[in-house]
Amino acid sequence: KNKMFVKNKIIDQVSILTIQREEALNALNPDVLKELDSMLEKQISDRNVGSIIITGSGEKAFIAGADIKLMMGYDVDQAYEFGKLGQKLTLAIENSSKPVIAAVNGFALGGGCEIAISCHIRYASENAFFAQPEVKLGIIPGWGGTQRLPKIVGKGNATELIIGGHMINSKEALRIGLVNRIVSSEKLIDESINFCKELQKNGPTSISNSLKCINNSYDNSLVDGLEIELEAFSNSFCSEETNEGLSAFVDKRKPKFKK
Ligand code: CAA
Repeated sequence: KNKMFVKNKIIDQVSILTIQREEALNALNPDVLKELDSMLEKQISDRNVGSIIITGSGEKAFIAGADIKLMMGYDVDQAYEFGKLGQKLTLAIENSSKPVIAAVNGFALGGGCEIAISCHIRYASENAFFAQPEVKLGIIPGWGGTQRLPKIVGKGNATELIIGGHMINSKEALRIGLVNRIVSSEKLIDESINFCKELQKNGPTSISNSLKCINNSYDNSLVDGLEIELEAFSNSFCSEETNEGLSAFVDKRKPKFKK
């Protein structure tokens, strides 16, 4: 019961969450989902954490999806609860005030791909593979795949992936915009950390406001979204962070933002 499915290590204020269920290619059952959810919440509220990386243990898989063996015994209500748990987690990732980067180190299938696309940015190793293979199992994506994938890769690419169920490699994923960058396997975590460290030099409130406005562009009309952007833009002008950022430029020095 107390088995730790998620390992946490903090390097230079970058918190790395590693899913540890290598024997099942890091497939997610409710216990892993809950642990990941609570670990994520902890990182978001930890003042010593500036950004978060999610990755999988081992060299083969990021996350091979929801636990198929477990789902086999599910009835409608259990499937609903399982779906809801995954949707709660993917929403928490997406709504995180701190940037969450998926370091995709291998298979990102089904629910694994859905976790990756709820992250703000995706770095993939050369050996990464992506798929929404649910239709091959007679099910459909349940943790946001039908909603988020079209917004990231466009409706046509998303439809092809979701009703085709086929796997694509990292090059193809890069081509359709599913990943931001391809990195060699050995360098994946280091490069992800370096990117996070660069991010962390920027104003933290500016980052969280940007993430919020970008997420709002999903749900709102252009006019409403613009209003939310304008509020966040203008309100920052009474903040120390904005004052520091603008004065540093004028003084020709690097800004020093408070965490
Ligand atoms: N759930 C449970 N166990 C899984 C799993 C999953 N999603 N994926 C892999 N495993 C287990 C395998 O059953 C196997 O366990 P045993 O040794 O006990 O048999 C172990 O992990 C190693 O896997 P394989 O032997 O299959 O490894 P492989 O190299 O031959 O194949 C693979 C790798 C192509 C990733 C293959 O494991 C695979 O196709 N996995 C399933 C992927 C999938 O369909 N994911 C979507 C799940 S549905 C979903 O996620 C719904 C949703 O939207 C929420």
